Amino acid sequence: MSTSTPQAATREEDFVHVCRVQDLPEVGAACAEIEGRRVAIARDSEGRVHAIDDTCSHANVSLSEGEVEGTTIECWLHGSRFDMTTGEPTGLPATVPIAVHTVRLDGDDVYVALND
Ligand code: FES
Repeated sequence: MSTSTPQAATREEDFVHVCRVQDLPEVGAACAEIEGRRVAIARDSEGRVHAIDDTCSHANVSLSEGEVEGTTIECWLHGSRFDMTTGEPTGLPATVPIAVHTVRLDGDDVYVALND
């Protein structure tokens, strides 16, 4: 099991099957609802899969409708950029980080465990 964040969930029962890798855009994001929370599942330009909160921290807009470049996702409304590996904003106007969730791949299946 691979984990990428300090607060990463590690319990097997925390992981939920979300989709298959081929269901995602080649480079881009799709929105999933996990335990009532909207999560953007994104594939970056190197084929890695990330899971972040879908709601931009600047306003109530879906980040999965934005553009992905490298490990960055850009909000379509005002252009805020977030690093999907850390959740940190890397471009204004957003200044508040978004939550990053733990992704586990099992073959082509994508599993996500929600973090705080
Ligand atoms: S709503 Fe995302 S940058 Fe403004």
